[in-house]
Amino acid sequence: GKGEYDHFMLKEIHEQPTALAQAIEGRIDPTNGRIALEDFPPGTFDGVENVQLIACGTSYHAALYGSLALNQAGIRATALLANEYSVTAPPVDDETLVIAVTQSGETADTLSALRQATDAGADTLTVTNVVGSTAAREADDTLFIRAGPEIGVAATKTFSSQAVMLTLLAQRIAADSRGAPPADLQSLLPDLAQMPGQLEDLLATDDAATIARQYQGSQSYFFIGRGLGYPVALEGALKFKEITYEHAEGFASGELKHGPLALVTPDTPVFAVFTGEEDEKTLKNAEEAQTRGAPVIAVCPEGHRAVEVADEHLEIPASDAELAGLLANVQLQLVSYHAAALLDRPIDKPRNLAKSVTVE
Ligand code: F6R
Repeated sequence: GKGEYDHFMLKEIHEQPTALAQAIEGRIDPTNGRIALEDFPPGTFDGVENVQLIACGTSYHAALYGSLALNQAGIRATALLANEYSVTAPPVDDETLVIAVTQSGETADTLSALRQATDAGADTLTVTNVVGSTAAREADDTLFIRAGPEIGVAATKTFSSQAVMLTLLAQRIAADSRGAPPADLQSLLPDLAQMPGQLEDLLATDDAATIARQYQGSQSYFFIGRGLGYPVALEGALKFKEITYEHAEGFASGELKHGPLALVTPDTPVFAVFTGEEDEKTLKNAEEAQTRGAPVIAVCPEGHRAVEVADEHLEIPASDAELAGLLANVQLQLVSYHAAALLDRPIDKPRNLAKSVTVE
């Protein structure tokens, strides 16, 4: 049941510290700090030169996050919408790994892209929450995210767990195929270990509810981010539109000035995600929105320069760029949740959506 919570979505948002702790448990070798994904002995990803990640919706945002983490680790990777794959799949060869990212493991678009990749001769791996799901059975290998059951139609904890697992997987693939220096890992692993505790602290605050109330009734809601903050901006907007039924869009921070600024007015709050990746540029993009009268809500750590510049801020604990966006995403989940609650929407079962979409 929902326990003390009004909705499964809120319960599942609050389950994220546990879900993440479960996701990483036993998957990091404490003796040498290496990523020891069970079922994948050292060298599993030897020879992987190129990764394609296929997914839909929120899982696509996690896949995009994973592809950027792979790129940053020196591996060629592209995230592709599974529903576009049949007409635009890039070529695969025997150095290509195709990763299906699907919480349910039953999304028809994703299954059909996975089958196409298999037929083309790619090695395949499914990242999923559901043991025994079709995508888990059909891929060569499976990595389970262990988030526990997610009842709310809006994906929350599964997104966070997928993104974290893909971040770990990126490090493992780079280590196997490139002998990547453990330097990246030395900063990532301690931050990962403290993430469940940081999320507990974040979830104990109610600033997101205040912001949702303050900007209730706006014309549109925009979300911007750069680097790993970009998939977070896309996900912030998708969650917002799917459960509030209000208009929301996510943009790469630098894209705002290439068209979308035409939509920016005093009636369009802009949520700006700061991950530590060229934040000064994102801040400048946010100021361009302020010049058009838009209120800016910075999602950033305490003491960040954006706190002074922005109209409001939502605090996230200080973390590595690899994980900061995921902390920011939880604040945005809470904003969407509270905005939808104020509008009295059927949060756990939004109109026209299904938990797993089994038609193409
Ligand atoms: C949004 C949402 C959907 C799913 C998408 C893919 O909150 O839940 O966008 O992410 O339908 O579903 P899976 O991950 O089961 O393949």
